[in-house]
Amino acid sequence: MSNAILLAPGPVQLHPEVQKILAQPMIHHRTPEFDTILARVLENLKSFFQTKHPVLIQTSTGSGGMEALIVNLLNQGEEVLAIVSGKFGERWADMAEVYGGRVHRLNCDWGKPVDPAAVKKILGENPNIKLVLTQATETSTATAHDIKAIAEIVSKTEALLLVDGITAVGAYDIRMDEWKIDGLVAGSQKAVMLPTGLCFVCLSERAWAKAKACKTPRFYFDLQKELKSNQKGETYFSSAVAHIKALDFVLSEISKTGLMKHFAEQRRRADFTREIAKQMGLSLYSSSPSDSVTALNVPEGIDGAKLREHLEKKYLVTVMGGQDQAKGKIIRIGHMGYIQEVHLIETMYRLALALKDFSFNVEPEKVKSTSTTWLEAHPFEQ
Ligand SMILES: Cc1ncc(COP(=O)(O)O)c(C=O)c1O
Repeated sequence: MSNAILLAPGPVQLHPEVQKILAQPMIHHRTPEFDTILARVLENLKSFFQTKHPVLIQTSTGSGGMEALIVNLLNQGEEVLAIVSGKFGERWADMAEVYGGRVHRLNCDWGKPVDPAAVKKILGENPNIKLVLTQATETSTATAHDIKAIAEIVSKTEALLLVDGITAVGAYDIRMDEWKIDGLVAGSQKAVMLPTGLCFVCLSERAWAKAKACKTPRFYFDLQKELKSNQKGETYFSSAVAHIKALDFVLSEISKTGLMKHFAEQRRRADFTREIAKQMGLSLYSSSPSDSVTALNVPEGIDGAKLREHLEKKYLVTVMGGQDQAKGKIIRIGHMGYIQEVHLIETMYRLALALKDFSFNVEPEKVKSTSTTWLEAHPFEQ
């Protein structure tokens, strides 16, 4: 058996060069050497976010980015519409409530995307809603929402659209400026292909205007302070030097490939996972599957938590299980990060071996050969 494989929906496998960069001797963040790197990263992040607006780097996990958007853009007592289609939607709605938001929850069935018409209806009936919160991909159900359609609706209202793109930005096409998104957050341990610890936040013009007037107290997550420091070529707090140097490498690799081609490769991985899973007799949990993570229904009679554990212990493949109402019922395979074809093939092969151990009717060797054939028939054209 070859090495262990990590195909979770974050954290993800790291490029060998990223691993080397992270192991380099430390340099200080107030040095010309680091200033050059930071300037390049801040510029390249704009293309990555498909925006002309500044993208701020925060030393926190993704939830800190979600909180930054709330504390800079929500005034106490304001009405908020939160699209809740899983764990992370719930988290953002809870966060808005903690900061005094009066939250309308638009609950979706798990595994289903939100209906943009429902968003339009609620906004029409509640003209005082000031913020709309949504995930781009709800990771707990591996479901992608139609952000373009939602943005088209929200941008015609007074409300700002804030998108948790933590499992989306860098994995597939999310157009901050063109679609008129007002706040977008990404996380380092997902399609940014770094370890956990950074997040990235971007605001539209109208969001910056609101941030300037917003009265909610904040200190560490005050985006205006960070922006001012960035304009002087530095970060407000100590910079996460090692992560930012590794980010410089990742962004330059993606720009060499081209963002759309990079997305095409991510789509290919997602298509592969869905297709081979179907050939194995497994079905998808989500009716709107994301290109960043695939949730597969665990066959009747098999405990998904046990299957996941067995796959990890015996076959050295780490994927994630389901949470809350999907606990024991699904496994989630992430396809972001540094992934080679052998990782994809081995994951499906070893999943078949694990399922066979649970008496599921599958032929692992056949899965391996169809996986190889599929990838050969769908080459990634650099
Ligand atoms: C969609 C989404 N939002 C938010 C988070 C929270 O991010 P973090 O754990 O980095 O705080 C995650 C993490 O998995 C996520 O997938």
